[in-house]
Amino acid sequence: GGTTAKDELGNDVSVAKFLENRNAGDRNLVQGLKGDPTYIVVDSKEAIKDYGINAICTHLGCVVPWNVAENKFKCPCHGSQYDETGKVIRGPAPLSLPLAHTTVNDDKIVLTP
Ligand code: FES
Repeated sequence: GGTTAKDELGNDVSVAKFLENRNAGDRNLVQGLKGDPTYIVVDSKEAIKDYGINAICTHLGCVVPWNVAENKFKCPCHGSQYDETGKVIRGPAPLSLPLAHTTVNDDKIVLTP
């Protein structure tokens, strides 16, 4: 089961391609569950972590960019902030960013709720 992560063209994202294309130190988006933009998290050993972070702000739905310098997600719409695991640290967002369980299957990134 699960949804295979897609790129912006709708193609499956392979782990190799994801790691190759990502900007080191940055957070990189795929299309995840229900097509929502989702951050795939990579650990210091370049392994895909077992959770992805839904990038849709829980306030009014803006896509929340990762701020590398401040090591948090900052919503450009009304200033909500989330820590590196998506936990809300400043409102008006009422809830943390939802996580998706992430597994690697046959070099594809698979997300499940
Ligand atoms: Fe993100 Fe309002 S939509 S703070």
